[in-house]
Amino acid sequence: MLDKRFVRLFIIVANTLLHYLYKGANKRPSDRAIPLQDRLRPARPLPSATPHRAVVTASRPVGFFGAMGRSSVTTMSSAGHSRRDFLYIATSAVGAVGAAAVAWPLIAQLNPDASTIAAGAPIEVDLAPIAEGQAIKVFWRGKPIYINHRTKKEIDEARNVNVETLPDPQADQARVKAGHDQWLVLIGICTHLGCIPIAHQGAYDGFFCPCHGSVYDTSGRIRSGPAPLNLALPPYEFVADSKIKIG
Ligand code: FES
Repeated sequence: MLDKRFVRLFIIVANTLLHYLYKGANKRPSDRAIPLQDRLRPARPLPSATPHRAVVTASRPVGFFGAMGRSSVTTMSSAGHSRRDFLYIATSAVGAVGAAAVAWPLIAQLNPDASTIAAGAPIEVDLAPIAEGQAIKVFWRGKPIYINHRTKKEIDEARNVNVETLPDPQADQARVKAGHDQWLVLIGICTHLGCIPIAHQGAYDGFFCPCHGSVYDTSGRIRSGPAPLNLALPPYEFVADSKIKIG
């Protein structure tokens, strides 16, 4: 399907061509081509020794040079100029349209397609259907995002720990939004080698990575195993009491 911008360019070029055609069709009689026998006459009898060199002059005002006061010598009428200019412009315009038609698909293919744009766009998630104690998984920018509706017991377990003893010390309060402590939102990619951990698994009932046995708690913090860091948090905000926007 033709791009709208290309169609617009084509219309502009077509309008320009029609404009010049219209001007040519409505040219005044004085601007039209003058028969050759009227336009040219010998300035003086040509010497027989120079039969191939003709010195010509206009018999009446012609175009710009004529308007300057019957200037002495010209070899081309204004109508000739106009027709030649039109041919130059028409040829250039057709060439430009052809070049644009060839280049346009090449340029257009550099733009990201709709699915790519959509994949990078923020997403909104309605939290109302997520029951307490339930975790769901959505995708944002191709990444799995866990949204865990934590119970009071899970929140207490995440906070009754000496943060300094953790491999990647971080308080639970710093991993949730103030006033929304029950909602844990994190990127479900293991910080070891990138596997997807399973929710509500492992010794801490948080997340368990089956690839190499990393165990995360109910705040998504690494507690044991080869993973060096806590599960990462995506950028998100509450746009309503029970709705978040991720990204
Ligand atoms: S990828 Fe998760 S423990 Fe290795």
